[in-house]
Amino acid sequence: MALERTFAMIKPDAVKAGNIGHILTMIEKERFKIIYLQMLKLTEKSVRLFYAEHVEKPFFPSLLEFTLSGKVVAMVLEKENAIEDFRKLMGATDPKKAAKGTIRHTYGTEMPANAIHGSDSRESAKREITIFFGEFAAIPSSEKRNAKEY
Ligand code: TYD
Ligand code: MG
Repeated sequence: MALERTFAMIKPDAVKAGNIGHILTMIEKERFKIIYLQMLKLTEKSVRLFYAEHVEKPFFPSLLEFTLSGKVVAMVLEKENAIEDFRKLMGATDPKKAAKGTIRHTYGTEMPANAIHGSDSRESAKREITIFFGEFAAIPSSEKRNAKEY
């Protein structure tokens, strides 16, 4: 199976609770490679772009306020089958329904405070990685002639 990249983001609830290290440990234990990582505070404009599919949903105002409430840690992760495997490691959207051992079950509290984001498809992964790290960052190492990222 080919190497794949996904976009992940530790959300403000988990950053404030001091869980960046714990979450990165869970990610590395599952053999995802951290290719890019940046801590930053989003702007309203960037949240509206990132969550474009949700801007008209009734929960968007609370999602927007939550996402702007503190710093996030944005990452590009690489692994075989990274997109699907990371969704599994995150667990269900609602931390109360997420399976034991998942990041959301362990560090999420109540929606929208579910600790972590992960791309839901190849198309989303490419779009989300491009927003934060540029188009080059979305291409897996195995497809790069000069792979100097990791
Ligand atoms: P969504 O893309 O449906 O979930 P996921 O993050 O698992 O891909 O929703 C984006 C975020 O919006 C989700 O992580 C938490 C928040 N949210 C709510 O606050 N209430 C809701 O009812 C839903 C569906 C999501
Ligand atoms: Mg989603």
